[in-house]
Amino acid sequence: MLLFILKGGRETLFDPISPHGKDISDLFIFVLALGGIVFLLVAGLLIYAIITGRRRARQEGLPRQVSGNNKLEFAWTAAPAVLLIALLIPTIMVMNSSDPAKPTNAAANADVVIIGHQWWWEYQYPKQGVVTANELHLPVQPADGSPGLLIHLKSADVQHDFWVPQLGRKIDVYPDKDNFLYFKPTTVTQKDPATGKDLPIIGACAEYCGAQHAWMRINVIVQSQADFDSWIASQKAPQAKTTPADSSQGDPVRGEQVFLNNTCINCHAISGTTANSNIAPNLTHLGSRNTLGTGIIENTPPNLKRWITDPNAIKPGLRMPGYQLSQQDLNDLVAYLEEQK
Ligand code: CUA
Repeated sequence: MLLFILKGGRETLFDPISPHGKDISDLFIFVLALGGIVFLLVAGLLIYAIITGRRRARQEGLPRQVSGNNKLEFAWTAAPAVLLIALLIPTIMVMNSSDPAKPTNAAANADVVIIGHQWWWEYQYPKQGVVTANELHLPVQPADGSPGLLIHLKSADVQHDFWVPQLGRKIDVYPDKDNFLYFKPTTVTQKDPATGKDLPIIGACAEYCGAQHAWMRINVIVQSQADFDSWIASQKAPQAKTTPADSSQGDPVRGEQVFLNNTCINCHAISGTTANSNIAPNLTHLGSRNTLGTGIIENTPPNLKRWITDPNAIKPGLRMPGYQLSQQDLNDLVAYLEEQK
């Protein structure tokens, strides 16, 4: 995780990309600064008292012993009360500004439905009829007074917590309760200049939910409306099954049969095929994703082969079994999954 942060430097509270995130970040900095001032004041007075007290004790012996000082007691009661009020008022303001009121029929109007699973995220776009996993694509929002994209959050199993600090507040997701939130990303996320790949902003599941809680990474890619529309179109498009010229890389046409003839279909869906289970991540257009296993490894053919063969070696505790496929079946299956861009 530390390596990931150092490498990417993208999981941060200090670089908000939405007005909601900015309000929370500003509040955090205000609280940090106020706390810093109090710390310096208390530590400074303490050091001053130690130095002068020792000097005086050497010269005059024990100081005069007193009990009770009304002025002092009033001061150290009133000062924290004033400080707490100074924290409370902006906190209440930010609680309101970072979490606009939701409409009563929110469930019917959600732009994105986010479903937490052990240990991955399902993203549904009900208005466009797209279902994907582990990479949340959002269209950039205008920097006007609109509340943003309405998000519906729930869980398929245990309690999780969806938290992308740069986007806004954290929010629990429950199996038996629907939560709603607005996301208003006003900045498009960057692409790696060398590879052209998206550099998502990073969040994490923030509620302990089992063995791989730490690997419920959240990847958010904010795109211009045009880029988002073309991503939606590509996610909806049926994939073309082409056979690569170099057959050593596997035959995707045969790979589809490997997929459909194994127990993959008990848990995974690929639209346009008979596989339609939603227990595990939807694999439609898996080739378009940057990572596998909710961010734990890069999405490359060799990594996907490792994953299929022994996913528990990469992400212990995972429910997916390893598949001992023949070399040809594995090559064909990976060719099929990876060409689904
Ligand atoms: Cu999901 Cu922690």
